[in-house]
Amino acid sequence: MNFDETTLTEAAVARLSQCEDPRFKQIMSSLIRHLHAFVRDIEPTEEEWFNAIRFLTETGQRCDDKRQEFILLSDTLGVSMLVDAINHRNPAGTTDTTVFGPFFVAGAPDIAQWGNIAEGLPGTPCFVSGTVRDTDGNPVEGVAIDLWQTDGIDGLYDVQTPDGKMFGRGCVKTDAQGRYAFRTVKPISYTIPSDGPVGGMLRKMGRHPWRPAHVHTMLQREGYRAITTHLFVKGDPWLQSDAVFGVKDSLIVDFVDQPPGTTPDGGRSDVAFSVAHYDFTMARA
Ligand code: BEZ
Ligand code: FE
Repeated sequence: MNFDETTLTEAAVARLSQCEDPRFKQIMSSLIRHLHAFVRDIEPTEEEWFNAIRFLTETGQRCDDKRQEFILLSDTLGVSMLVDAINHRNPAGTTDTTVFGPFFVAGAPDIAQWGNIAEGLPGTPCFVSGTVRDTDGNPVEGVAIDLWQTDGIDGLYDVQTPDGKMFGRGCVKTDAQGRYAFRTVKPISYTIPSDGPVGGMLRKMGRHPWRPAHVHTMLQREGYRAITTHLFVKGDPWLQSDAVFGVKDSLIVDFVDQPPGTTPDGGRSDVAFSVAHYDFTMARA
């Protein structure tokens, strides 16, 4: 009763006294304290507070099975990368992780070595290969590597296109020597969806919505710590200012442009193509 500026925070925290879940209690106490500290810090007008509530409401209203505006919010405020960093304090030498993003779709088709995840897609043909090893340098066989990316011209994921037909996705398994190889189109930089409240927020903050060109990879094998990461294209102009803070030096890969001719899979290309090599390192679970 008679709560005021000086007593409200402790009163709200005290209402958790009957909470039986200790972790939930810890999280909610911290949330209340930080939220109250934030409000004390900015001293919002009632109009500003209502705008904040409207922004969060609109963010929720923009979420459906294809669009996840709250993930975009978390990503663009750097929170997703902070959660990633806290949860992947992996042993030295392990491949760096980065943001998962909102465009993963489960159930992508399995592809053979040198299978094409971008069959028929516009863009520069691209050949990516490398190995997966453990932290002692031994090849790891049977790692499922999920791959996903945009097309090579419009920079859209399949789920962003009107017909939603699957493209730019596949899952390749490492062989007995830990090798993997796939074909795709050379990734290009693209903008994260910016026609919703998060886009408005970015503009108001004086920020751009660009992500540097990348292929998403997710490596999984029983007995090993999973790795969710990207391979970024060296030289991309947005590497320094990725809208979601996902770039790490160790993930920047030389995609070497080649003239028409023999391709790394032993075939031929009549058009210029690009070749990239990247070796992953996984730690045991
Ligand atoms: C992505 O790389 O697919 C992505 C990541 C964060 C926000 C939007 C897109
Ligand atoms: Fe992406």
